[in-house]
Amino acid sequence: MLKRIIVTLLLFVSPFLLAQNAKPHGYVGAEMCGMCHKTEKQGNQFGIWKESKHAQAYQVLLSDEANKIAKEKGFTTPAAKTPECLKCHVTAYGVDASLLGPKYKMEDGVQCETCHGPGSDYKMLSIMKDKTKAEAAGLQVHTDLKTFCATCHNSQSPTYKAGWDAVASFAKIKHDIPKAQ
Ligand code: HEC
Ligand code: HEC
Ligand code: HEC
Ligand code: HEC
Repeated sequence: MLKRIIVTLLLFVSPFLLAQNAKPHGYVGAEMCGMCHKTEKQGNQFGIWKESKHAQAYQVLLSDEANKIAKEKGFTTPAAKTPECLKCHVTAYGVDASLLGPKYKMEDGVQCETCHGPGSDYKMLSIMKDKTKAEAAGLQVHTDLKTFCATCHNSQSPTYKAGWDAVASFAKIKHDIPKAQ
């Protein structure tokens, strides 16, 4: 009898467990990360990002220069409506809309979650404090800059300059957590 109950319970519960595990992480938007990552003590990652070109990566597609590039490439749509431009200039392009939280904005261009992974499951303080838990919940911290940055900084970018140096470029956008004194 007990065995039957257990088997029935397992049959009933397991599809739910599977469904939950299979759900991809959602995008919460840079502003959400900024709630905790904007004090000087924490390293003001939000302020540093906001001042960087990455925060402008969508806006730059609205420029005449961008439309000219798109036209020369043979696209008939404006740059900001061309998938082949958007794929490197915004976060989560082409991702199912159900995975975009209320604070996600395409206008934020290349934001935290482009490089650190979608944050819906790691943004809670209890998880963020523990790197192992955060990584299990989807946090990514890339240390191989050459490989990672080259996913966008490569010759498929119409304005790419050969010899672009990922390590030297990271120095322009680095946003460390200050070491405790
Ligand atoms: C509720 C506050 C909070 C929110 C929201 C938050 N973080 Fe954090 N984050 C922290 C704390 C606290 C740490 C640990 C800082 C330390 O080690 O001193 C941390 C650490 C990190 C680290 C460093 C991990 C490591 O140890 O190398 C990264 C990267 C990071 N957060 C990215 C993000 C991103 C991206 C978002 C938005 C999706 C985000 N955080 C949202 C509080 C937060
Ligand atoms: C262009 C990619 C990129 C973007 C955008 C970006 N980061 Fe990072 N971030 C990195 C990389 C790469 C590292 C790790 C560098 C290393 O340790 O070699 C890092 C490190 C960090 C760290 C850990 C620093 C430390 O001292 O351990 C935190 C915290 C962090 N990022 C938070 C954020 C937040 C919050 C945002 C958005 C406001 C953001 N990052 C945007 C690439 C990015
Ligand atoms: C493979 C990724 C990728 C694709 C695809 C891409 N871009 Fe970019 N774009 C970048 C990167 C990375 C930069 C910054 C460095 C550089 O110029 O390569 C950039 C920079 C730019 C700039 C600013 C240049 C400057 O000198 O300030 C414009 C404008 C631009 N892209 C337009 C476009 C248009 C229009 C398209 C589509 C036809 C496009 N990009 C497709 C990655 C890409
Ligand atoms: C999702 C695509 C993407 C990734 C990944 C990415 N970038 Fe960028 N990056 C861009 C785009 C697009 C621009 C141009 C934005 C503009 O001009 O408004 C840019 C511009 C820059 C710029 C300013 C222009 C320049 O070359 O000086 C720096 C610096 C930079 N990125 C550094 C990095 C570094 C370092 C990494 C890896 C840690 C990285 N990026 C990863 C898309 C990306």
